[in-house]
Amino acid sequence: MKAVKITDGIYCLPVNLMSYQLFEGMWPMPNGISINSYVIKGEKTALIDLVEDTGNIPAEFMEELDSLALKPEDIDLVVINHMEPDHTSWLIDFHKRNPNVQFYVNKKTVPLLKSFFGITENVNIVNDGDRLDLGGGKVLRFFETPNIHWPETMMTYEESSGVLISCDAFGSYGTLDGVYFDDQLSTGQHKFFSDEALRYYANIVSSFSTFVSKGITKLADLDVKVIAPSHGIIWRENPQAIIDSYTRFASYMNGPAEPEVTVIWSSMYGNTEQLVNTVVQGVRKEGLPVHVHRVPETHVGEILASAWRSSGLILGMPTYEYEMFPPMAWVLDMFRRKKVWNKKVLRFGSAGWSGGAQKELTALTEKLKWEFIEPIEWMGAPTQVELDLAMERSQELARMVKAYAGK
Ligand code: FEO
Repeated sequence: MKAVKITDGIYCLPVNLMSYQLFEGMWPMPNGISINSYVIKGEKTALIDLVEDTGNIPAEFMEELDSLALKPEDIDLVVINHMEPDHTSWLIDFHKRNPNVQFYVNKKTVPLLKSFFGITENVNIVNDGDRLDLGGGKVLRFFETPNIHWPETMMTYEESSGVLISCDAFGSYGTLDGVYFDDQLSTGQHKFFSDEALRYYANIVSSFSTFVSKGITKLADLDVKVIAPSHGIIWRENPQAIIDSYTRFASYMNGPAEPEVTVIWSSMYGNTEQLVNTVVQGVRKEGLPVHVHRVPETHVGEILASAWRSSGLILGMPTYEYEMFPPMAWVLDMFRRKKVWNKKVLRFGSAGWSGGAQKELTALTEKLKWEFIEPIEWMGAPTQVELDLAMERSQELARMVKAYAGK
């Protein structure tokens, strides 16, 4: 691939990680992900973030540099917005080729540069709001935006163009292949990147939602003409669209989220499964969209996105050896870690030998600010009584969600 021109002297160098890899060693990415580095050419040439040292990625990145008639040794300075290795692990090789390059980082990055790469020389510390004149009309300004995604994260703004290189914020899953900007997207592609932005947000950023809201507020007065994130599409026609999406995603943590219900269910021998269709019908009768995921068949990364945007959750979970069914316990523990808060919740499930799942669920979700309605539990196989309760309580839950989320 060639570098992609954003405006005079500012280029994106995207490389694609493909779908067979797990992002962060954990998250499936069936549509891959792009890693976007940026070059800004003034009298000095700056590289903003690098790439992951995996597979053919460094070679592809070098090709893109070459398309700008640049080699690693032509880079005068490297700005590191974020130390996570998807943006830095190729730094070892790069530094061997260009040992005199100057680094511009904030103070939290300094110990990380040393511990990850042993780099302590030519490290220049920038503070929040500092400016760096590259000459030739290009001036960088740095904004600390901690915890979007790591503690040291910052954004780099180029003043003459209004391009905000926003690091992980405003990013999405999905590779870039011939289409790089929001104004090049078809309606279908627009929906694709919107969905992939939500899934990326739920997987990577959700637990830092308070910091996302703070970061967006902090930059509200900046004249941003282009949002250029570290992952996914570049927003130049309507940068406010992705800012609004991230504002909305962050707001879901404290609720309400969308007036929708996500059903997450698991079943050992089909007894808990017998209520699934009924609860789905109950929600639909109340006119709400419902998303259904079976565990463990569906990966928690996909379920997280669905749960994050839904104001209501219905959990179909049997008791297993006096406790929660283990694959559901994994999902619910991830909800705790990722701050899936402020939901309206119904749980149903077979009680196994003598129950226990409900007790563990109550304890696990104690701090999640979930409002439960009375669960449906039974010994052995469900009867018509439980099926009737499933209809009744799923409708009750849907009405609660409507009252809460405003539909
Ligand atoms: Fe794209 Fe948090 O690294």
